[in-house]
Amino acid sequence: MSKAVNVAIIGAGLVGSAFINQLKSLKNNAITFNVIMIARSKTALVSKSYSPLSLANWESDLSASTEPAGSFGEIADFLKQSPLPVILVDNTSNQALAEAYPSFVEHGISIATPNKKAFSSDKSLWDAIWNASAQPKGGLVYHEASVGAGLPIISTLRDLVATGDEIVKVEGIVSGSLSFIFNTFSTTSSTGEVKFSDVVQTAKELGYTEPDPRDDLNGLDAARKATIIARLSGFNVQSPTQLPIQSLIPKDLESVATGEEYMSRLPNYDQEIETVRQEAAKENKVLRYVIKVDMEANTATVGIEKFESSHPFAGLKGSDNVIAFTTKRYPNPLIVQGAGAGDEVTAAGVLGDVLKIADRLV
Ligand SMILES: NC(=O)c1ccc[n+]([C@@H]2O[C@H](COP(=O)([O-])OP(=O)(O)OC[C@H]3O[C@@H](n4cnc5c(N)ncnc54)[C@H](OP(=O)(O)O)[C@@H]3O)[C@@H](O)[C@H]2O)c1
Repeated sequence: MSKAVNVAIIGAGLVGSAFINQLKSLKNNAITFNVIMIARSKTALVSKSYSPLSLANWESDLSASTEPAGSFGEIADFLKQSPLPVILVDNTSNQALAEAYPSFVEHGISIATPNKKAFSSDKSLWDAIWNASAQPKGGLVYHEASVGAGLPIISTLRDLVATGDEIVKVEGIVSGSLSFIFNTFSTTSSTGEVKFSDVVQTAKELGYTEPDPRDDLNGLDAARKATIIARLSGFNVQSPTQLPIQSLIPKDLESVATGEEYMSRLPNYDQEIETVRQEAAKENKVLRYVIKVDMEANTATVGIEKFESSHPFAGLKGSDNVIAFTTKRYPNPLIVQGAGAGDEVTAAGVLGDVLKIADRLV
């Protein structure tokens, strides 16, 4: 008999759409993936009989659908009755859905997701998810793309820990927007003609930042990723706001009403960060915005650090991410580097998780 699983997808935005199209194009897989639900925030396509939906014209079918998406409780009730093992793919950034994971997982529903909320909120949610998954009938939970999009960061760290290696330090650049901003602002050949505010403006225009760049520059997104890395390394973080986070937003601009006003006033503060850049340059170093989990020092931090021009972080290009794992077995760090954002690579990270889950389920 051929092997098959059911797949329910919540979220069909940039990553969700790329995911569905990649799933649709899968060839020669030993397992059949039957999509039984695709939900957006208001409407959904649902196969109440659990027979596979046709993906041929899924976008127009979904646009034409008047079927309400339903509450997460209703979706859980529907998936619990699935005759085949079921994988829920959460392609949203929804906090409430993240908080509902334990109620899916405890009923044997597995989850693959790039949504970092479930793994970087209060520790009680983290514990509830893994406790539910550890139950004899608990579902599996994979979240490779919650840090570094499709890069093998979570799986590498999990394998290091599971095989008995000892994590000494994990350090990296995990924000595409802050990677671009510092790779452009602080290079070994910078002479000071590039203004920080101009670089932020360019990053915004290229779509690397959120519509209000303060959502990147406050460091909270990086802190969420640091929380995930720290927890997987064995470092207890109650919540991301507990970490020392260096915000790059000048105090006076934290509470200005709009992103436009923030951008228009940012040039007045260029000198502060230019001074830091010059100090680093005098030591032949560049600035990078990094997360650092130091198991020996028992610290996890998020903020600007200085790096020698020969350091791998100094030569980073564009908006790439990089993570360096220093362990007992890898005293010279094991480095994972590449595109850390983008719908195709993120969707591939999620699809890779779906394939791994299916392999374990059937
Ligand atoms: N884009 C990237 O490069 C990237 C990289 C790494 C990780 N991620 C993560 O991937 C996830 C998706 O990102 P994205 O860029 O695809 O976001 P997006 O384009 O904004 O899409 C989000 C989707 O989620 C749906 N949604 C939101 N709340 C919902 C709800 N309550 N019920 C059902 N559907 C709901 C939205 O529905 P509507 O269509 O109705 O609005 C939309 O389809 C996020 O967690 C993000 O952090 C993204």
